Amino acid sequence: MLSDWEPPKSFSKYKHIQAKRLTGCIGAEITGVDVSADLPDAVIDEITGALNEHHVIFFRDQHLEPKRQAAFASRFGPLIPYPMVKGLDGTDEVVPVVKNADERVNFGGIWHADTTYLEEPPMGALLYAVELPPYGGDTLFANMHIAYETLSPSLQAYLETLTVIQNSAKAEVTRTREDRIKGEGGQRKQLIAEHPAVITHPRTGRKSLFVNSGHTERFKELTMEESEPLLKFLFAHQTRPEFTCRFVWTPGALAFWDNYSAQHNPINDYHGFKRLMHRVTIGGGRPSLMKAAE
Ligand code: SIN
Repeated sequence: MLSDWEPPKSFSKYKHIQAKRLTGCIGAEITGVDVSADLPDAVIDEITGALNEHHVIFFRDQHLEPKRQAAFASRFGPLIPYPMVKGLDGTDEVVPVVKNADERVNFGGIWHADTTYLEEPPMGALLYAVELPPYGGDTLFANMHIAYETLSPSLQAYLETLTVIQNSAKAEVTRTREDRIKGEGGQRKQLIAEHPAVITHPRTGRKSLFVNSGHTERFKELTMEESEPLLKFLFAHQTRPEFTCRFVWTPGALAFWDNYSAQHNPINDYHGFKRLMHRVTIGGGRPSLMKAAE
């Protein structure tokens, strides 16, 4: 449990890139790579390795037109459009994430994993900083493997028997997407999916807690009244400060997160200034608790 938990002492060394960890258990800055270049497979493999170990990785001072961002992202899996958001500059998949100077609400401004209300939630996303406020607008990330591994064995075993109902229309998250996410005819769509509360990461085989305060409504096997206190505990536990890192953006920075092992929360502390990011999403499969393929 928490008192027994210790951050890993060291991580892999790579041949083509350098990875400098940010905190005890999540996040690393990657140097030695220009992601706009046509990178050899060996470099892509090392970047995947760094993502497996650190769950979110960051590249600074990159120069990425939307098409180059899409090209880099597509090396890691198929790109998927963000549900109900229009693509940018002739791409289907690169979408703007913007808060204008006169707006009060930021996109996705709550702890969440992306679109877990889809039958096949994305495996990850890449977010590129185009225009930043003079201060603030950082993004927090939290490690969902450690969140699971620091629960008591009894609660781990119980959660492994449960299914979560993920809903795009939870009130807290829809407030953060006002005027941005609309279906045809301007109506908000409601998307609902059921997933295991604990999933096995498809690349690493490590278990991960798959509930999030943005989209998880309840446990299928429990009543709403029974679900609420357990979810309340898990939402607080999974975002404990020691499980997180905070990324301070600079123009040209790129974050690449693994949606099956990390959650994120963009901080809304820059009213009166514009913040513009370009985001691309990488598709995944249906999450399961079964062991990952060897
Ligand atoms: C998102 O959830 O995609 C937005 C993250 C951010 O703006 O930092």
